[in-house]
Amino acid sequence: MTAETNNKKSAVRGLATRAVHTGERPAQPQFRPTVTPIYPGSTYVYDDVEVMDAALAGDDSKYVYTRYGNPTTSALEEVVANLEGTASSIGFASGMAAVHAAIFSSVAPGSTILATRDLYGHTFASLRDHFTTWGVTTELVDFLDLNATAEAIKTYSPDLIVCETITNPLMKVTDIPAICELGRAAGAAILVDSTFTPPVLYRPADDGAHLVVHSMTKYLAGHGDVTGGIVATTRMRRQQLSDYAKLNGSILGPFEAWLALRGVKTLPLRFRQQCENAMKVAKALDAHPGVGLVNYPGLKSHASHETAKRLFDGRGYGAMISFTIKDATKEDVFNYLEALNLIVPATSLGDIYSLSLYPAMASHRSMPLEDREKIGIGDDLVRLSVGIEDADDIIEDLDQAIRKARR
Ligand SMILES: Cc1ncc(COP(=O)(O)O)c(C=O)c1O
Repeated sequence: MTAETNNKKSAVRGLATRAVHTGERPAQPQFRPTVTPIYPGSTYVYDDVEVMDAALAGDDSKYVYTRYGNPTTSALEEVVANLEGTASSIGFASGMAAVHAAIFSSVAPGSTILATRDLYGHTFASLRDHFTTWGVTTELVDFLDLNATAEAIKTYSPDLIVCETITNPLMKVTDIPAICELGRAAGAAILVDSTFTPPVLYRPADDGAHLVVHSMTKYLAGHGDVTGGIVATTRMRRQQLSDYAKLNGSILGPFEAWLALRGVKTLPLRFRQQCENAMKVAKALDAHPGVGLVNYPGLKSHASHETAKRLFDGRGYGAMISFTIKDATKEDVFNYLEALNLIVPATSLGDIYSLSLYPAMASHRSMPLEDREKIGIGDDLVRLSVGIEDADDIIEDLDQAIRKARR
């Protein structure tokens, strides 16, 4: 059914010309695939030049150039906005590209940002190293302390508030509704990095967030084979982000968009299994003789349990856990990582397979032990992203690896 040619004269043209053009650009596809195809084309063609002129003038329903918009990426943006309950969303090349774009579009030289102390390391570094040089000041406060946060908002009158739903690696849950209420009353925009809490668990925009950011590299795509980010937001803010992406070029590629789109379809199933598994694993770790503290908001003992219960409303408690191996040194934790048979000892999170990471070696590597210990991230702490395997197999693997930690 492929169109043999789009040009009557093609039969008389040279072989090189025919090799390039034959079969391309069928005027009207005579088929309709059940899933959105990958549209890798960087450009789009219109028979009517006036239509093309309108498209270039900014008609959103038309595509002209993939850096401005792409049908595969649009399909992904539509489903993510729908799941997050926002008017629109926009994809980016990575989670960090999405974070950067969301911040950049909300501030100007002279602006003040109020951010939580427990931010993802590279978001913090971006605020400290990039935005400072651009004349944007960042003030830090512990968002788990609502009185201190209210005081800081009064003192600094921030233009933008930056926070995360669940902090890494201690899994403390931020009271997003309270932060949004305080921030909105002071006229600040609120950016929530919701990477640890996909929309099946929690939707920050429902509680007042202006910009909801995800590293799609994690749960949304979910299979460890995509690097991408997305910002779910209002139409007006999307337009600003789209203008930014046009100039900055940090757009999501169509192949990655397609993989993420496919991943999102199974997000509810995957995440339900991950949450169920995480609860079983957290309970098993809590009862393990070789384990000290278990940080999981689903456990009643966790400081954020009540906040998690209120925000997540019976939908689960996420699938990220951290725990200490009793009296473990760095060498003991290395033994644990090497002993893992099933769980993958690698960075990242949110994949279908379980992953274990050592914060002292990875996310908090540059922080001195003394400072880390003060905030509960000692040399004995490990992080676990729970996958969709059978929970008993995850528990068994943890058990044998923890036993081998202290040889
Ligand atoms: C909470 C959070 N935000 C943003 C990012 C950055 O995402 P990416 O690695 O896709 O750039 C990460 C990555 O680990 C993260 O954990």
